[in-house]
Amino acid sequence: MRNTSRYNLKTAVCLLALTAASGAMLMPSTADAQVTFRNINSGAVIDFSFGKKGEETEAVKHFMATAENLYNNDEDAIRIGEDLFMTACSGCHGHHAEGKLGPALGDTYWTYPSGRTDKGFFEIIYDGARAMMGPQRNQLTKDEILKVMAWVRSIYWGDAEQALWLTEEERENFTPAPMPEEFAEALKEFEKRQNR
Ligand code: HEC
Repeated sequence: MRNTSRYNLKTAVCLLALTAASGAMLMPSTADAQVTFRNINSGAVIDFSFGKKGEETEAVKHFMATAENLYNNDEDAIRIGEDLFMTACSGCHGHHAEGKLGPALGDTYWTYPSGRTDKGFFEIIYDGARAMMGPQRNQLTKDEILKVMAWVRSIYWGDAEQALWLTEEERENFTPAPMPEEFAEALKEFEKRQNR
């Protein structure tokens, strides 16, 4: 009798563990995302079980649920975002996001127009685009990506009506940041060539 009950107990524990394990396996890894994030090129749903682990901050939880970046206009977050950009992005996009090996990120033009929304912007950074633009998810946590995004938005020098991450009201009252010198020079060069 004693042996049987011990055996039963063991089986029960085993079963419980199994149920928990298969439950975890069956649970989609995008469970924390209420917005469906997709790869910008393939359209495949982004699997958030990869990537640099970090604290699920309020900003991350809010972004996963709404695709709204709480760090836009948050000065402390923007300052950290600038530092992170200098380490992770400026080598290819330039120190003022004026464009280098990768395109400028503060102008009106986007290769991927959905980058004008914070959802699309995040999808490109987290999961990558083409060529040298690999996924940045192993370099930066989700929270860090949101901070980088906030800095890039803060230096936007493009047209207000294309700033789709802003609300309509914000767009009406928007003043663009000054255009970086490097970008202005490249633009002049480009226009000269066009007129030749
Ligand atoms: C090794 C070089 C490299 C690094 C590092 C890099 N990028 Fe890129 N990035 C590129 C290239 C090249 C493209 C163009 C890819 C394409 O068109 O598919 C690009 C494209 C992009 C785009 C799309 C722009 C558009 O016009 O649609 C965004 C947004 C972007 N990068 C953001 C970032 C951010 C933010 C970081 C840092 C976290 C970063 N990139 C790091 C090379 C890089």
